[in-house]
Amino acid sequence: MTEEKPIKCSFCGTTQSSESPLIVGPEGHICESCVRLANQVVSSWGRKREITEPLKKPPIPIEIKSHLDKYVIGQEKAKETLSVAVYNHYKRLAAESEAEAIGMDNNTVEIDKSNILLLGPSGTGKTLLARTLARIVGVPFVIADATTLTQAGYVGEDVESILHRLLDAAEGNIGLAEWGIVYIDEIDKLARSAESSHGVRDVSGEGVQQALLKLVEGTSVRLNEKGRRKDSEGQILDTGNILFIAGGAFSGLETMVDKRLQPERTGIGFHAQLPEEQDAPGDDIFHETHPDDLKHFGLIPEFIGRFPVIAALEQLDVDALVRILIEPRNALVRQYSQLFKYDNVELEFTPEALRAIAEQALSRGTGARGLRGVLETLLQKTMFDLTSHDHVVRCLVDEAAVRGEEDIKQITEDTADHEGIVDQDSVRQLHG
Ligand SMILES: Nc1ncnc2c1ncn2[C@@H]1O[C@H](COP(=O)(O)OP(=O)(O)OP(=O)(O)O)[C@@H](O)[C@H]1O
Ligand SMILES: [Mg+2]
Repeated sequence: MTEEKPIKCSFCGTTQSSESPLIVGPEGHICESCVRLANQVVSSWGRKREITEPLKKPPIPIEIKSHLDKYVIGQEKAKETLSVAVYNHYKRLAAESEAEAIGMDNNTVEIDKSNILLLGPSGTGKTLLARTLARIVGVPFVIADATTLTQAGYVGEDVESILHRLLDAAEGNIGLAEWGIVYIDEIDKLARSAESSHGVRDVSGEGVQQALLKLVEGTSVRLNEKGRRKDSEGQILDTGNILFIAGGAFSGLETMVDKRLQPERTGIGFHAQLPEEQDAPGDDIFHETHPDDLKHFGLIPEFIGRFPVIAALEQLDVDALVRILIEPRNALVRQYSQLFKYDNVELEFTPEALRAIAEQALSRGTGARGLRGVLETLLQKTMFDLTSHDHVVRCLVDEAAVRGEEDIKQITEDTADHEGIVDQDSVRQLHG
């Protein structure tokens, strides 16, 4: 009966004829040109199969940024720069794999990647940005620490180990690893010290910069047997399309930028300002960073040249620190509240207390990193003796407690109903 109907290719619908014979399968038919096309598609899978997955719907800059917003407070400019860079990275990737899938040479304009240098004071969110980004991007992402890298031949992790880790992140798929993103943290620690603080020439830091040059620029690296993946041994990985982001605190750079902007400040003589009279460099001075400043800081020019985009992070102010305490997904206040909740105690902070905590953290000069220290010291005593009496249901931190003028209020089950707040000393007396 079915012989009556013309037999057609199940993929393109071509009718069977002497010119276009069909291969018969249990469920349908396929013609010669579909077999050839399928072969092309399948052979491109070997290298790019998994790449196309995230590309089906690559996140647009706004989406990337709004994800970053959930974890990183402020730093709008840096977040925007990163979102655009990652999005562009995806676009290049999409264009390339499309060209490859249809077996065409990509004869359109080839877009170069724009590696990014992230700089800003300590504790302002550089590493946090990188970690958060790593979570959203659909391409392999590794974070390498420049301080652990050494020149090949020295003891330590050599620069190529980054590629091994990238390949691990790509689950051994070289094609995928070649489209990865590498974040190199603490890049400022590679500065040769000759022009910075110590006056001692630090050969190894410069050596690592040299070694990174060729990776960043794009080179084919034959993976050696040092890698964990035995299957990758001897394989060649081209780093030309890997996006590099380098980050560092560049402590001291702000004064260099400031000096360049206001040369008269550094003058000697009658009109020179005394150090006390000089304003400290402004918070956003990092935005003014020029490649020359980085050279002066001790990065070699060839290295700086390979990072055309410079994004600066700002010093966090009290308002930002307060937001950091409460807003991010895993904000510190939420973390400590959870710790207390495990003991069935509600931990509460008054708004004034939060501000006072932020002010104390700010005075430590370590950015948001100072917050944890302040909270830890503040809650230490309470965390120590909280569990020794099981009647406490609520702890209230107010401004006086933060300033150390009073203890943190502990509210017990029996007093919660009528009396309200009882301070820690009386609670301790109560339980003797
Ligand atoms: N903008 C921010 N938003 C939210 N949390 C932040 C922010 N900046 C810093 N933090 C908090 O402070 C901690 C330290 O930040 P991070 O490690 O990103 O600093 P960094 O800029 O890399 O500093 P360093 O130059 O010293 O390495 C983070 O774990 C995070 O909890
Ligand atoms: Mg860091």
